[in-house]
Formats: sequence, structure tokens, C-alpha cells
Amino acid sequence: MVEIRALKENDRGHVRALELFCIREYLEGSLHKSWDQLSHDLIDELGASSHNSFDHYLKSGLCYVAIEDGHIVGFVFGQMVEYINNVPKVLWVESIAVHPNHRRKGIAYKLLKKTATEAKKKGAKAVQSTIMSDLAASVMLHKKMGFFMDGRKVAFLDLESFQ
Ligand SMILES: CC(C)(COP(=O)(O)OP(=O)(O)OC[C@H]1O[C@@H](n2cnc3c(N)ncnc32)[C@H](O)[C@@H]1OP(=O)(O)O)[C@@H](O)C(=O)NCCC(=O)NCCS
Repeated sequence: MVEIRALKENDRGHVRALELFCIREYLEGSLHKSWDQLSHDLIDELGASSHNSFDHYLKSGLCYVAIEDGHIVGFVFGQMVEYINNVPKVLWVESIAVHPNHRRKGIAYKLLKKTATEAKKKGAKAVQSTIMSDLAASVMLHKKMGFFMDGRKVAFLDLESFQ
């Protein structure tokens, strides 16, 4: 039986391992890139469980883990954003993943539902989430939850090198 509970500070090690596993899975499986060519510094910065990001998300109070037989088998990182696309108070879902041995048992759905429900209690009016359009699981999970999806993609500009 899976239990969904709030993320705690000492979950970081297990959540980090699972998130990096899933990022690697995507990089190698869908993008056909080599993980071994990434520098340790770059790997350290990947994902919502990276050091700085983790502390920020922990404080948001909208992150949850799924526990089965005492082990973390899934997680969701969410935070409240004050305004997106003219909508005040939007739950931003940064990252969601489930260990491959525990997929297709409704765990991601439960995690997403939990963060959305708690965000609604805190006044959220909508949820925005990043979808991997090349991953059926990602698209279908959001469809099942009732997300509206059009052709929109989020564009990203790194301001470190921007003048
Ligand atoms: C995407 C992911 C989180 C789904 O986790 P999960 O716990 O297996 O998902 P659920 O069991 O809650 O599935 C909910 C619904 O999503 C859809 N779905 C999930 N996996 C699917 C798959 N492989 N193919 C098609 N639809 C899928 C189904 O509609 C499913 O409902 P159903 O089982 O009643 O048909 C998981 O595959 C994962 O961790 N992938 C790697 C990381 C990732 O891609 N994250 C998503 C970024 S948005």
C-alpha cells in the first residue's frame, strides 16, 4: 500500500538518487545522449532535488513523496507562483517521477492529486506543469488528471551569459 506524505529534509538523498536516475533515463533513452560525458558540476545542478533548489521547494510545503514498504518510490516538487498567464496563485509542478519498478500503479497520479489538492487549500487557482511531449507516460498522466494541453512550449533563456 502506498503512502503519500510531505517531503522532509532527510529525504533528500533518496529523492536525489531517484531524480537523477530518471533524468539519466530520459537523457539516454529519449535524447540518446551520453550521461558519462556530463561533468560532475553540471550533474550537481540538475533537477529540483539539487542542493539550492531542494531547500527552496522544501519550504514551499507543496512537495510530497510516495512510500512503499518503507522506501521512497516517487516524488513531486511543487511551489506556488504568484502570477502566471494572468492567473494569480498558480501551483507550479517542477518535477514528478516514480521508480520504474513501481510505475503504472497510480502513484504519480496520487502525488499530483495531493499537491494540487493542498495547493487549492492554500488558494491556488490553477496548476502549471512541464510535460515531456516525447514521453507517452508524461502526456497521458496529465491528460488523465484533466490538464489542458495545446501546442505551447516553455522557452528558456539563461541570463548568466545574457548581456
Ligand atoms: C511519468 C511517470 C511519473 C508516471 O508515473 P506512474 O506512477 O507510472 O503513473 P500512474 O500509474 O499514476 O499513471 C497515471 C496515468 O498516466 C498514464 N500513463 C502512465 N504511464 C504511462 C505509460 N507508460 N504509457 C501510457 N500512459 C501512461 C495512464 O493514463 C495512467 O492511468 P492508467 O494506469 O489508469 O491508464 C513515470 O513514468 C516516470 O517517473 N517517468 C520518468 C520521469 C518522467 O518522465 N517524469 C514526468 C515529467 S512530466
